Amino acid sequence: QANEKESMYLVSEFAQKYFHNTLMNTDEGQAIGYSYFKERGFTGDTIKKFGLGYSPEEWDAFSKEALGKAYKLDYLDKTGLTIVREDGRTVDRFRGRVMFPIQSMSGRVLGFGGRILSNDKKAAKYLNSPESEIYHKSKVLYGIFHAKQAIAKQDNCYLVEGYTDVIQMHQAGIENVVASSGTALTPDQIRLINRLTKNITVLFDGDAAGLRASVRGIDLILEEGMNVKVCTFPDGDDPDSFAKKTPHDELIAYLENNSKDFIQFKAGLLMDEAKNDPVKKAGLIRDMVTSISKIPDRIQREIYVQEVARIMDISEQVLVSTLSQIVQKDI
Ligand code: CTP
Ligand code: MN
Ligand code: MN
Ligand code: MN
Ligand code: MN
Repeated sequence: QANEKESMYLVSEFAQKYFHNTLMNTDEGQAIGYSYFKERGFTGDTIKKFGLGYSPEEWDAFSKEALGKAYKLDYLDKTGLTIVREDGRTVDRFRGRVMFPIQSMSGRVLGFGGRILSNDKKAAKYLNSPESEIYHKSKVLYGIFHAKQAIAKQDNCYLVEGYTDVIQMHQAGIENVVASSGTALTPDQIRLINRLTKNITVLFDGDAAGLRASVRGIDLILEEGMNVKVCTFPDGDDPDSFAKKTPHDELIAYLENNSKDFIQFKAGLLMDEAKNDPVKKAGLIRDMVTSISKIPDRIQREIYVQEVARIMDISEQVLVSTLSQIVQKDI
């Protein structure tokens, strides 16, 4: 229903303004939220550009304010900004958190991620808006509104995991970057990028989870007929922490020198282990060929087959027949 969705957009926009104002113009917001962002190295301009905010440490400060401004409880409930408890009491979903508004391609506020300030392990680090009529997390990429022009212009999109990765990269002058926001990458998210460029460089966290997610992401991106590179970070770093400590020129050089096409990435990941072990090496080759089998374009497949043959020192013939076996099994 068009009216209902529009009302949900309006209440989300109001919430974004409320959280931002709370951050900028209240003592609590300044002392807790603003200083947190400053500590992370975000500038005032960055905080404004991304519309960052703070939700006060109270039960229903936001809900009261919104209801007082005649926003309807129904829409506060449907966007998940307000939780209506069984006893009828209304409680703010986001309390005592720094707020990251999530915007659509055209800049409308769809939902929020809220981060706790302490690193206390009891609470989830990030709390996100629930799925709603306007927020489908599998179809959204954090940062797309601020990145779309740069993605088209650079003809490449950096794909990161988190909110702060996007923001820190922007601050480092790299604006063609969006985040999957921790969810497993989806075809809908990839198609959003596909409207702007055919080239994705995956920049996931330098940990086991990040590597696993990169490997999974590769095949999905190939299936959409797009080109995929991967750039890995030192263990324990993510693009945020790495960009923060690396001078601009060095960061650019690092990204250029360490972005490998998916074949080289997979080879690098497993080659050391596999080299002297025929069984492991065969497994790695089969894995590479499986990725190649996802590519819709035949000529591109052929080119990658040649690359694998060269890198892994194996005949193209064997690879081609393996490829057709895999494709047949798929059908
Ligand atoms: N995420 C989430 N809920 C969590 C943990 C993570 O929604 N409990 C999402 C967030 O979008 C987060 C992304 O997954 O940005 C990546 O997670 P992680 O690497 O753990 O967080 P960072 O973005 O590195 O956050 P920070 O630097 O603030 O710790
Ligand atoms: Mn819908
Ligand atoms: Mn992580
Ligand atoms: Mn991270
Ligand atoms: Mn981080």
